[in-house]
Amino acid sequence: MNDEIKLFNNLFEGVKEIVGGTSDRDEKLLAICELLKGEVSYYDWVGFYFVDPEVKTELVLGSYAGEPTEHKRISFGAGICGQAAERNETFIVQDVSKETNYLACSPSVKSEIVAPLKKDGEIIGEIDIDSNNLAPFTEEDRWFLEDICMVISRLF
Ligand code: SME
Repeated sequence: MNDEIKLFNNLFEGVKEIVGGTSDRDEKLLAICELLKGEVSYYDWVGFYFVDPEVKTELVLGSYAGEPTEHKRISFGAGICGQAAERNETFIVQDVSKETNYLACSPSVKSEIVAPLKKDGEIIGEIDIDSNNLAPFTEEDRWFLEDICMVISRLF
């Protein structure tokens, strides 16, 4: 097993432990953001956006680890997060400078991956990760994030 897969397996167990813990939901989500940002060298900003239950076509920023962002509310279709929400599937952008529909948070960000959080097949939110590396994401990142999103959706 290569090192990346081992790391993701360990992190998957860590996320399950956090989800099954006794703290409240926002604390759990924050702990997950901090775990991922702390352990994966190329995860430089890790956060959650949730579908606004009132305005079902807008995302609202939830817990995150990393620099504060001005993008606290994002419409479906806007930026990488909004496109992922509209498609209800994982969206990987290996080079954000080539993506025209992009909402920049920090000039140091070079790539981004977003995976949807689903409940009964419907999108309820997403996990968003920015990296300062160019093209760091592999299929392992995709599977890992989709797997943890399934576990995290138990909180909803
Ligand atoms: N870059 C995102 C906006 C959110 S920040 O990365 C935290 C986008 O294009 O949707």
